Amino acid sequence: MGNKETIELAKSVLTKNYNQRPIVLVRGKGTSVWDADGKKYLDFTVGIAVNNLGHCYTIVNKAVQKQMTKLGHISNLYYNEPQANYAKALIDNIYKGRVFFCNSGAEANEAALKLVRKYSIEKFGKPKTEILAFEGGFHGRTMGALSMTSDKSYKEGFGSLISGIKHVPYNSIEAVEKAINKKTAAIIVEPVQSESGVHVPTVKFVQKLAKLASANKSLLVFDEIQTGFGRTGNLFAFKHFKVKPDIVTMAKAVANGFPMGVMFAKEEIAKSLTLGSHASTFGGHPAICAGALATLQELTKEGTIEHAREMGRYLMLKLTGMKNSLASIKEVRGMGLLVGVELAYPCAPIADRCAESGLLLNCVTERTIRLMPPITVTKQEIDKALNILGKVLKI
Ligand SMILES: Cc1ncc(COP(=O)(O)O)c(C=O)c1O
Repeated sequence: MGNKETIELAKSVLTKNYNQRPIVLVRGKGTSVWDADGKKYLDFTVGIAVNNLGHCYTIVNKAVQKQMTKLGHISNLYYNEPQANYAKALIDNIYKGRVFFCNSGAEANEAALKLVRKYSIEKFGKPKTEILAFEGGFHGRTMGALSMTSDKSYKEGFGSLISGIKHVPYNSIEAVEKAINKKTAAIIVEPVQSESGVHVPTVKFVQKLAKLASANKSLLVFDEIQTGFGRTGNLFAFKHFKVKPDIVTMAKAVANGFPMGVMFAKEEIAKSLTLGSHASTFGGHPAICAGALATLQELTKEGTIEHAREMGRYLMLKLTGMKNSLASIKEVRGMGLLVGVELAYPCAPIADRCAESGLLLNCVTERTIRLMPPITVTKQEIDKALNILGKVLKI
């Protein structure tokens, strides 16, 4: 089938909650993808910060295939080797704690939400009923995660959500100081807000936040669902800020394209996830864990993260140069290879024209284009992508 036939079929059978670009992708390798009509694109979206090692990364795919020929799904009624091995490897790259495996970012945040509530009852004898989240924050779309997400338009029509969630301005320690109190069970924060247009907080803000949380006996939850696994030029963004969150939620790039979510919690807090208190049928699937382990091994190989950092600097430098010569670019923001370009006008037509010219990027807000190439991207690919973007912005 070509693009047209598949789109017609999809439109007749799928729910209508996505605004899909009229392209059917059929093949991918590294930074490139091809559509059903054979057209090639540079992919600066990579499944929304998922394929951090690029599309169809052979080592990860082979690890999953190999495990699938041995043993596929078994549930958590039994132990499995890849799950235990991956948990150990991941913890070795964070710090002492425990992990719970699930299937998506929203699920990882749901697990965190349940855990902070249960921990507060067990620790203090009565529940702390409030959670601080941030304006512009995105944490997923299931009912609990949606309650912590700030954008009201995502909540319309769904009735009552979880109570006790307060949203305060991002990057404002004064706002947190005002809002935090004895009832604050946790503060959930993205180390870089991506969905609200790519906003990077100051190191001072994040470090002060960690101190305030600790002084107030509130847990600090880092949502690293989008920032994790090399995206910001470090394995996790919390490493840039030199803080140790109590809970870290992860998903997206965990297994370079295979669905997986993780909630990490420090040992003392993880204890509250007692027998039967939480579960996931598919969580910790042997083949996905084999893929996640292969992903982590590749990401922690000498040079991989350094390359991401270098490419992030290069991308930022080139974009800053473009900003200086193009009035259409108002601001360039980002960390590592998570970059937002704010335009002086709506960006949807720009993203459309880029796609026509062979570059996929997305509009994360009305005026902000987001660029998230794989961390394996090359200088030549960045040059090619920015050449397309520059030409489109000059039209
Ligand atoms: C920071 C953050 N948290 C949570 C989520 C939700 O993840 P998922 O779509 O896997 O449920 C996202 C997805 O974009 C995200 O960017």
